Amino acid sequence: MRKKIVAGNWKMNTLPAEGVELAKGVVAGRGEVCSCVNFIVCPPFTHLSMVAEALKGSDIELGAQNCAAEAKGAYTGEVAASMIAALGCKYVILGHSERRQYYGETSATLNKKMEQAYANGLTPIYCVGENLEEREAGKHFDVVKAQIEEVVYNLTEEQFKNLVIAYEPVWAIGTGKTATADQAQEIHAYIRKVLAEKFGAAAAECPILYGGSCKPANAAEIFAKEDVDGGLIGGAALKAADFLAIGKGFQK
Ligand code: 13P
Repeated sequence: MRKKIVAGNWKMNTLPAEGVELAKGVVAGRGEVCSCVNFIVCPPFTHLSMVAEALKGSDIELGAQNCAAEAKGAYTGEVAASMIAALGCKYVILGHSERRQYYGETSATLNKKMEQAYANGLTPIYCVGENLEEREAGKHFDVVKAQIEEVVYNLTEEQFKNLVIAYEPVWAIGTGKTATADQAQEIHAYIRKVLAEKFGAAAAECPILYGGSCKPANAAEIFAKEDVDGGLIGGAALKAADFLAIGKGFQK
């Protein structure tokens, strides 16, 4: 049985006190959602320790949105995986399309970040996904395959057991355009096949999340698909009620 996961990527939103309120709201309403759903919140770095405090006593887990490619040292402005782990993070989002697009993150950088994450006991939420041009050219399968082969294929079998994949088509992020449930299923099944080519039966255990304009109104239909194990939620994660309602989308 694969884990069901609803993860909130807050991106660069909320001031620290607002983030604490949001986290408290999620904790307060969590009981309305099946305990079978694993909730994760990923606030900005600046909020992590305060949000960790707000989550205490709940089963909601903490993640960061990025980590440095190096362990420590003279890297001004960077935040090490060991630092976020020390604040209580269990997860780290890596390879988000916004990082790839705006900050030039390549597979070479991501391989180093993945190593840092594992060295510090963090589970990476590794993001893949094509842009609109690639989708329209029918290249989406090749794009996600390359993003997996260049990074995930370098993991050991042990590391692979602690990995979450998020499929986020760039054209669906923050646009209000969602992949249809069938489009999500098609590419999630393909991703699982690519994972199985390297890791065999263990691929059946890897949670693959969908991300891109996922909201309460469409979560249930998308999550009902065989190879969709939850969502990585942007905008709708900024309202506790919406974030929790997405968790209620699990009916399997
Ligand atoms: P939206 O849910 O705002 O489209 O963002 C998705 C995303 O990028 C999550 O990482």
